[in-house]
Amino acid sequence: MVKIGDKIKVFAPATVANVACGFDVLGFAIDQPGDELDLEITAEKGVRIKDITGDGGVLPREAEKNSAAVAILEFLQHINADFGCDIVIHKKMPSGSGLGSSAASAVAGVFAANSIFGAPLSKEELLPFLLSAEDAACGSAIADNVAASLFGGFILVRSYEPLEVIQLPIPEKLYATVIFPHLTVLTKEAREILPKEIPLKDSLRQSANLGGLIIGLQTSDYGLISRSLKDYIAEPYRSKLIPGFDDLKKAITANGGLGGSISGSGPSVFALSTDKDIALKIGEEMAKIMKARNIDSDIYVSKVNTQGPKVIE
Ligand code: HSE
Repeated sequence: MVKIGDKIKVFAPATVANVACGFDVLGFAIDQPGDELDLEITAEKGVRIKDITGDGGVLPREAEKNSAAVAILEFLQHINADFGCDIVIHKKMPSGSGLGSSAASAVAGVFAANSIFGAPLSKEELLPFLLSAEDAACGSAIADNVAASLFGGFILVRSYEPLEVIQLPIPEKLYATVIFPHLTVLTKEAREILPKEIPLKDSLRQSANLGGLIIGLQTSDYGLISRSLKDYIAEPYRSKLIPGFDDLKKAITANGGLGGSISGSGPSVFALSTDKDIALKIGEEMAKIMKARNIDSDIYVSKVNTQGPKVIE
């Protein structure tokens, strides 16, 4: 039985959403970075943000505007909890990075709350609270980042109404490289620059590649994965927000990568490869491209993270 003063600390991973051909419907989790969240059970109902570290003071401290607090509050209301929570969020990536920052905090929050209450709800049952959290933080209830962080692995959001998330197979040799150039692109703004309608030709090419990528993952056909990593919907518009984007993409194939695109709504860019050394080399080359433009960056290399959130204390 949970009691006042009980504490838990949870980690939830960053994510790459869209994955080129899967705008708003594909995502995968990576090992690092990831947000951490401390949660303590209180007698007072509701959720209070006691502190946020690592955000440079930019994130809202009001519970109703914060993705983690919104998700926890919906969870507490759903289970009719007699208690509330105090939380401290440790941000390891900024919002506007394209790494699913608000999603990682929300997943850490709701996973912490569910775990400390003895896991009354399944991960599937937690997902709607995370959509509300994304809506509060980014202005749209999109499942790609939250589902990838919550379930881990590589996910397809097959349907939004009703919500249906499918775990995709992950080929043995697959590695991800992610570069986060120290720039900010807000998801809301990156969505506003997209055209409201797309030509039939682009829709056909996009859905053909989405099918190709999924079959490539299923059959470990790396050539098919490579040919399918193309985005006709978002990349042509959003790439203009990322200095040196064309050079970053060239560095992926020039160094033996399968391909890549913008991570989520950017400015981070991801690449997939079949080998850790290739993944590391792509990261090095990408960092050099950004450095030449006087832009600092962080590089993350890992396999797809299949665990999702975890209790760390
Ligand atoms: N799929 C979203 C977008 C990312 O590209 O706008 C945030 O979930």
